[in-house]
Amino acid sequence: MARIVSALTLAAVFTLSFGHEAQAQVTKADVAKYDLQNGQAVYDANCAACHAAGVMGAPKTGTVRKWNSRLAQGLDTMIQKSIDGYSGTYRGSTTFMPAKGGNPDLTNKEVGDSVAYMINQVL
Ligand code: HEC
Repeated sequence: MARIVSALTLAAVFTLSFGHEAQAQVTKADVAKYDLQNGQAVYDANCAACHAAGVMGAPKTGTVRKWNSRLAQGLDTMIQKSIDGYSGTYRGSTTFMPAKGGNPDLTNKEVGDSVAYMINQVL
């Protein structure tokens, strides 16, 4: 009996931790809430300079292995970080994702659309 209970507990913990992970993943339905066509235009003009070739540690658009670990944080978090800007590390060097890709004229919605467009390339 005790063995069954602990097996069930293990299964529950397993399900919970994986359930959480799955919840934060980004799905096609998440990106479909954004204007992907507008996102492409915003991306071409403001984001492609770094993300098309993947320069200075920027995750390359369309390369699944560069994005897989990032997807776990969820779309909203990635959009907020893209609006605010942040710095990270890549191969021992400091990286910079500039606020709104360096264009303060972009609205939050435009940044959201462009992030959704980029993420859609790896779903
Ligand atoms: C000057 C280069 C540059 C430009 C321009 C740029 N990015 Fe980035 N971006 C980066 C770098 C570098 C990273 C990786 C930072 C890290 O995680 O180490 C990054 C990361 C990201 C991420 C991943 C965030 C995360 O939480 O993992 C998203 C999404 C993103 N950029 C969206 C955009 C969007 C949208 C634009 C255009 C509006 C844009 N970027 C323009 C350099 C740039």
